[in-house]
Amino acid sequence: MNIRKVQFGVMLMLLWAQAGWTQISLGPYVQRVSTDRATVVWYTDKATPGVLKYGTASGQWLGIIKVKAETVHAAEVTGLKPDTKYFYEVSDSATTLATGAEYYFETHIPAGVRAPFSFIAAGDLADGSTNQKEVAARMIIERPKHKFALLLGDIVYSSGTRQEYLKYFFPVYKNLHRNLCFFPTLGNHDIKTSKAAPYFEFFYTPANNPEKVENYYSFDYANAHIVCLDDELLVSGAALTKQLDWAKKDLAEAKSRGRQWLIVMFHRPPYTSGTHTDDDFTKAQFVPVLESAGVDLVLCGHSHVAERSFLLNNSKIVNEDLSNYPKNGIAPGTVYVVSGNAGQTGNLAGKHKLMAFQMGDIGGFEIVYINGDTLRGKYMKKDGKVIDSFTMIKAGNFTRVEISDPAQRPLQYVFNYPNPLRLSQTPAGLKIVFELSQTLPIYAAVYDLTGREVARLDNGALLRPGRHVLQWDGKGSNGEPIASGMYFYRLRAGAQVHAAKVLLLP
Ligand SMILES: [Fe+2]
Ligand SMILES: [Fe+2]
Repeated sequence: MNIRKVQFGVMLMLLWAQAGWTQISLGPYVQRVSTDRATVVWYTDKATPGVLKYGTASGQWLGIIKVKAETVHAAEVTGLKPDTKYFYEVSDSATTLATGAEYYFETHIPAGVRAPFSFIAAGDLADGSTNQKEVAARMIIERPKHKFALLLGDIVYSSGTRQEYLKYFFPVYKNLHRNLCFFPTLGNHDIKTSKAAPYFEFFYTPANNPEKVENYYSFDYANAHIVCLDDELLVSGAALTKQLDWAKKDLAEAKSRGRQWLIVMFHRPPYTSGTHTDDDFTKAQFVPVLESAGVDLVLCGHSHVAERSFLLNNSKIVNEDLSNYPKNGIAPGTVYVVSGNAGQTGNLAGKHKLMAFQMGDIGGFEIVYINGDTLRGKYMKKDGKVIDSFTMIKAGNFTRVEISDPAQRPLQYVFNYPNPLRLSQTPAGLKIVFELSQTLPIYAAVYDLTGREVARLDNGALLRPGRHVLQWDGKGSNGEPIASGMYFYRLRAGAQVHAAKVLLLP
C-alpha cells in the first residue's frame, strides 16, 4: 500500500475527528436497574445529542430514548419487562458510539418471586493497585453468574476525586459496568472531595426516601430486600434521625410485603479486627435498628480484610455453629460480613471473638446466593478459591400469619428452631419464637403423634405484646428425656391456635 495514501488517510481521520466526530469519553455504564427501568450513562468529548436504542436482541430495537445535546448523557428507559435481558446501543444520532453483545442490562426478578439469584459485594476498590486489577479480572470471570454488585464504600482512592474515578475506576471495571449494575455506598475516602461530589456525579441511586437523597436507598430483588445506609455524611442531628427513621420504616414495610431476606450494606463494620477495630458509630446507631428489624445479613468494607461473624444478636453469639444457621422467620440473629479488600489489602489485627472466619492480606470479594429459603455467602479470593462459606436457612416450621386483622390473629409470627432437634448438639433444646399483638394468656404443649401430651410449656401465663420465646428441653412432664421421633406442639393465644411438627433426634 502506498505510504503517502495511508498518511493522508490518517490525517483525514484526525481532521474529521477534530471537526465533528463524537468520541465517547466515559462509559457507557448501567445504573439504577430495577424490574421495569434502567439508566444508561455515557459521556462524550463534545456536546452532542444522546440517543439510546434498546431491545431484547442486539440490533432489533424496541425503543429509542433521546436526551439533550450535552456531554453527560443519562438515558432512563422505563416500561420494561422484569427479569429480561435488554441490549442497548449508544449513538449521537449520526455515529454509533457503543454497540454489541456486551452492552446490555438485566431487569430485576419481580419482588416476591422465589427464584435463585446471586450478587457480588466488594469494598475498598479502585486504588490502581495490581490487587485491584486481579480482583477485577476475577469479577469479570464470575460476572455472568451474578445479577448485580454492591460496592461497599471506599470506591476510589485516595480521595474520591474525578481524576481518580477516570484513572482507577472506570477503565478497570469497564467490562463489568457496561452490563452489571453497581449499587454503591459511601466510604470515608469517597467523601474526601467536596462531600463526595464526584460519587454523586457518577452514581445514580434509587433515592427512594422522603428526602430524595442518594446517600441511602433500598430495592427489592425477588424474595430479598437490600438496603444501603450512609455512615459517612448523614451521621448526626436531624439528618441521622431521618435516615434511621426511614430505615426502620423501609425494613418493616419490606417484611410486611413478605420479603424473606433483609440485607443491609454500609461502609464501617460494627465488628472487625483488621485494619480497623469495631466501629462505635455503626454499632451504636445502626445495629440496634437492623437487628430489631430482623435483618439477616450486613455487608461492610473499610477494614481491608475478609471476615464473617457467627449469627449475632446484640453483640452476642446466638449460634456457635461455624457455618450453618437455621433462621426461621424473624429469628434473632444477623451475620456480619467484612469484604474490604477488592483493591486495598491489610493484615488482621488479631482474633475477633464474634468472627467465625477471618483472613488478612488477601484480595477478593463476597458472593451472596439466595434460593428461596436458603441464603449462602461465600468469600472468593482473586484466584477463584472460596475460603469461607456459610448458610442461613429459613425452611422448617416457619409460619407467617397474615396480620390484616390483628384483633382476630394475635399471633403475628410463630416459628421454631432447630428442626430437626438433636439434643446431643443443642442441649438448650427447641425454641418456639412468636410475636403477640396484644396481652393474652398463652397455652403451649408438646404432643406425640397420637395426640398425647408429653410436655407442658406454658399454661395460661399472661404475656404482653411483643416477641416471646418458649423453650423445650426435650424432656417429658416427668423430667425424663423422651424417645426420638416425630412430635408436634400447639400454641394457643386467644382464639388462635398454631401447631407445627418437630422431629426429635438423639
Ligand atoms: Fe474506609
Ligand atoms: Fe478503605
